[in-house]
Amino acid sequence: MKPSILTFVMLTGCVLFNLWRCNQPATPDSSDDSYYTEQYRPQFHFSPEANWMNDPNGMVYYDGEYHLFYQYYPDSTVWGPMHWGHAVSSDLVHWEHLPVALYPDSLGWIFSGSAVVDKGNTSGLGKNGKDPLIAIFTHHNPEMEKEGRNDFQYQSIAFSNDNGRTFTMYESNPVIVNPGIRDFRDPKVIWHDKSKNWIMVLAAYDKAMFYTSPNLKDWTLTSEFGIPGDDRLWECPDLFPMRVEGSEEEKWVLIVSIQQKAPNGGTATGYFVGDFDGKTFTGDPQNQKWLDYGTDNYALVTWSNVPDGRTLAMGWMSNWLYAQEVPASVWRSAMTLPREIFLFESGGDFFLRSVPPKELAVLKKNTKTVKAQIIADSILLMEGITTAKLNLSFDKPEEGQIIIRFSNTSEEFIDVGYNADDETYFINRTHSGNAEFYPPFASKHTGQTVYPFESINMIIYLDHSSVELFADEGKCVMTDIFFPSEPFDKAQVIVTGSTEMREGYVTEMNNIWR
Ligand code: FRU
Repeated sequence: MKPSILTFVMLTGCVLFNLWRCNQPATPDSSDDSYYTEQYRPQFHFSPEANWMNDPNGMVYYDGEYHLFYQYYPDSTVWGPMHWGHAVSSDLVHWEHLPVALYPDSLGWIFSGSAVVDKGNTSGLGKNGKDPLIAIFTHHNPEMEKEGRNDFQYQSIAFSNDNGRTFTMYESNPVIVNPGIRDFRDPKVIWHDKSKNWIMVLAAYDKAMFYTSPNLKDWTLTSEFGIPGDDRLWECPDLFPMRVEGSEEEKWVLIVSIQQKAPNGGTATGYFVGDFDGKTFTGDPQNQKWLDYGTDNYALVTWSNVPDGRTLAMGWMSNWLYAQEVPASVWRSAMTLPREIFLFESGGDFFLRSVPPKELAVLKKNTKTVKAQIIADSILLMEGITTAKLNLSFDKPEEGQIIIRFSNTSEEFIDVGYNADDETYFINRTHSGNAEFYPPFASKHTGQTVYPFESINMIIYLDHSSVELFADEGKCVMTDIFFPSEPFDKAQVIVTGSTEMREGYVTEMNNIWR
């Protein structure tokens, strides 16, 4: 019998489908011993099982769970039509992956945004007397963009009455139409008790715009805040009040991620400290500061509704300069460690400091004490450990450098340290492994601390493809990623000159996935 055209079409279709399937990254199987053991796979940082991830979204605590939604493209390891991926955690440390929460629809792809518990059901979208969870996000309409229009990003909401397991799009989306601004996105919503209103801050090209609403559906523009003459793209803002440490004074923090010209190149998370009266943020636009001086902490925003009132945040551990090119086969990119943020005053100015929250202590496997000593050249801190927390303090040296070197047997290494000559901290990933995907990746990054500081304290978290430095109680923070041919498993202190080290601690960290 001669094969019909239909059989031919079906066979060709099957072959093409299988070819396409072979090119899709396989989703790891959590019952397998090899789960989350691929090369570069973070062991105690959040990463999706498979495919592309960027910004954290909709972070909210609800009914005993921390929710982490995130920009997700489930069909590829590069950026594409955006969805909201979803995971939950009861302790901020161990994460359970859940199905995709929001899919693109007729209004567009689902860009970044936030989520709130609608206490008292102001939106009327709750059911059976329970407060609904409301996601507020940007719809990005690719067809309208192709048509050359400027109004293709607008704000929409979706609601969940089953603890975030499923969401329904609000029938009258969008809730804020585009006023003719090409980049008009990333709404972050908070409840403002004094004015009994919801407040939204969003990024509008080179500034932040503020809106208020009684019910999360009807929004009124109240003000804008920007830097006169700024030509950089603003993204992923956040707004929240904080008590100044050691005082009763309250200030407001406006976080803004900036797409270009960060202190060490590319993208980074910055902030302003000022005041907010329910409608307008006032602060010095020229006094922008950086929350993290590393190259790999972007789109950091805070969790909503944290039960004990702490300010907890998390960022995307990458940089748009090279995010889509970094080595990846199964998944691409991870989140930073969660961070607890504090506001302090120094020399008449206000600064944020951030440290990993106490919850991370559950990951401590075993701790080695390193005795206080004078280091004239170098000492070995650890060997045979690939995931670690180091807590090291030194007398402030007058000159020279204190280097913590993490290395492997392939002669690759990354240096984290302090340079007394210009009083900066640094991470140098020049020799950290693969940088072919973007040669300027192999570089040294420096960070400023806040004066005065009397000694050098470095808390460093090492994972298989990232290092995070929290210096001076989090006054100078640096996050960098790297891609060595095998994980770094040795750490030394190397000094130029002589330095007195105080008692230090090296802790092996447990894996969060197995
Ligand atoms: C920031 C960002 C956001 C946008 C999202 C799209 O990394 O560009 O402004 O909503 O990513 O994925």
